[in-house]
Amino acid sequence: MRNLIGVVFLAIFFIAACPAKKEQNSLIDQKVQSLLSKMTLDEKIGQLLQKNGGSFSDSVVKACGIGSVLNETNVEVQNRIQKIAVENSRLGIPIIFARDVIHGFRTIMPIPLAQAATWDPSVVEAGARVAAIEAASSGIRWTFSPMVDVTRDPRWGRISEGYGEDTYLASEMGAATVRGYQGKNLSDKNSIAACVKHFAAYGWAEGGRDYNSANIPENELRDVILPPFKKCIDEGALSLMPSFNDINGVPSSGNEYLMNNILRKEWQYNGVVVSDWVSISQLVTHGFAENGKEAARMAINSTLDMDMASPVYETYLKELLSEGTITIAQIDEAVARILKMKFELGLFENPYTNQSDFPAMLNQQNLEVAMKAAIESAVLLKNDGVLPIQNKVKTIAIIGPLADAPHDQMVTWVMDGDKKNSVTPLVAISLKAKELGIKVIYERALELSRSKNISNRDAVVKAASQADLVLLFLGEESILSGESHCRADINLPGAQEELVALVAAQNKPVATVIMAGRPLTFERIIEQNSAILYAMHGGTMAGPAISDLLFGVVSPSGKLPVTFPRHVGQVPLYYNHRNTGKPATNKSWERIDDIPAEAPQLSIGNTSHYLDYGFEPMYPFGFGLSYTTFGYKNLKIKNSNLSLDGVVEVSVEVSNTGSYDADEIVQLYIRDLVASRVRAVKELKRFKRIHLAKGESKTVTFELPVSELGFHNQQMKYTVEPGDFNLWVGGSSNAGLMEKFSVK
Ligand code: NOJ
Repeated sequence: MRNLIGVVFLAIFFIAACPAKKEQNSLIDQKVQSLLSKMTLDEKIGQLLQKNGGSFSDSVVKACGIGSVLNETNVEVQNRIQKIAVENSRLGIPIIFARDVIHGFRTIMPIPLAQAATWDPSVVEAGARVAAIEAASSGIRWTFSPMVDVTRDPRWGRISEGYGEDTYLASEMGAATVRGYQGKNLSDKNSIAACVKHFAAYGWAEGGRDYNSANIPENELRDVILPPFKKCIDEGALSLMPSFNDINGVPSSGNEYLMNNILRKEWQYNGVVVSDWVSISQLVTHGFAENGKEAARMAINSTLDMDMASPVYETYLKELLSEGTITIAQIDEAVARILKMKFELGLFENPYTNQSDFPAMLNQQNLEVAMKAAIESAVLLKNDGVLPIQNKVKTIAIIGPLADAPHDQMVTWVMDGDKKNSVTPLVAISLKAKELGIKVIYERALELSRSKNISNRDAVVKAASQADLVLLFLGEESILSGESHCRADINLPGAQEELVALVAAQNKPVATVIMAGRPLTFERIIEQNSAILYAMHGGTMAGPAISDLLFGVVSPSGKLPVTFPRHVGQVPLYYNHRNTGKPATNKSWERIDDIPAEAPQLSIGNTSHYLDYGFEPMYPFGFGLSYTTFGYKNLKIKNSNLSLDGVVEVSVEVSNTGSYDADEIVQLYIRDLVASRVRAVKELKRFKRIHLAKGESKTVTFELPVSELGFHNQQMKYTVEPGDFNLWVGGSSNAGLMEKFSVK
């Protein structure tokens, strides 16, 4: 009965709410059109410009206004400029202040790659909400996030900013982020506009070198790269940013097919498209436009609404218009989209920021969200039983360049975070150790993660030999990942491997925590360690989160959002690859050391692998250990013969079979066995984070509409082909129970 009342209530709510939303939209459209009809050409062009803080004069704002200002976070300065725009310019159109708020504003969340490792959209949404409130309290109403660029290349520095290699995971995380930023009501003063980026294939950069060309067939673009953008748009993302790179020779800022055909016509997207930094001018550098004027024409023809920091719209739009190469209707459309966003955000009603309207930044609640995210994002890769730290441990040696590096644990795109607010692992572990009567010895050993010489070797040896347990903090400092910070060698940098060897030689149990902005290749040190926790960069609360995990206050539960290769030469290596005609197995792998001298070249038995590194990764996508163990049984598909409009209904029983309460990420994968285009050997389609007390079991259910099992066929049509499918449910991409179903 209660359920029925709920359903009725919801139905009434939706019936009532939807027309209200429609009405509101048409009201905004009317306001936009009325304002537009009063604007001069200069005022219109002014709205299409995004200027960096400090790069323009008050008189420009007064004369024709500015669409948006980037990187001005001083609220007094913002309010002063806003006053000119709102009270002293002819039409009083407010400015929207923008900033890269990528994983937190002052309270820094784990990097997005780490957020993806939580497989927990609710914590990702909560983190984005915290970021939105803090940013809005500093007058920022527009962020350039989420970055949903799927990538299969750990060399690419910006892998840290995205959600990894999987389309579905990136879609879910991207959508959660949009929800968090934009909140329940766009016009609330603490909602900020999301900007889904970089459209598209930015993560496909050749060789993992940032900004590089992406060569990608259209079916793969549509099946792998574009869905997260579509998902974020469906979630209501108010804006989108094209990528710097070219796709098959066409740079995105002038890519009419991508922008007009796919984004605007197919997807009916009517949000704001803002260029990336000076990317319109860069059409000339690419060798795609002859000069700035042609670049401006190409961008406006690609429905790119706002020019971020380049001079070309400002300089050439008028000229292009008077020549008749572009039309006023194109300009009007772009201006209308920008005005609409400002109306939706309530900027006309509330153009100013009053910091006292907002809660304090870094408040307890915000820190708790950051802490939860950091806890859930750490992935336990190895544990022979030294973790959680045992009662018998009386002395701990904390060694390494990242144990006490408050700046580096915040990592890329932290423009407003302050290292003085970071709680480092050294501080948090020392506090806990004191409580438990454990002695802590600390040796940094390497000044930076890339330092080539171990300082004070004797002290390191002494610390390790005195300890019952060594905690090594290794990885990459902040500046080694992020935009343009790509690496050809993704081993632990500097003398870190040497440090591991030095510590391991003391024959004490070693648990290593790796803090990095990407998957690193560290196969050589695995053996020397009893445990490895991959914590990535956890933000403000990385220290307390790692401490709680090491001491077993909570069990690790993160799972890898990306495949970890054994060697960089294996890249790209990803779980959802297609089967070749000669797939490798352990048996078929011909090992380099076993090949006899002058062995003849044979074709029988040849399979797809490397002589030296085989075909498997160091750790697969979806992998992550816990302090407990989980059992899966009774995988059932309710109806295994489905029609094209059917829904696959799956249930499985998951049990906590070990001795710690813990979370598990239950993952559902499918494989379309035979298709007109070869399908991936596994594709993630659903996941759920569940909590199980020790000894507890739960039945987990999933619903997967058959319509989600499709792909773009040779005619480039999205299609679900009838036939047989395998379905797995388990705790990793390489594990799980399997059942079959067919689509008729
Ligand atoms: C360049 C980056 O590619 C983009 O992601 C960012 O939002 C802009 N710069 C603005 O800072």
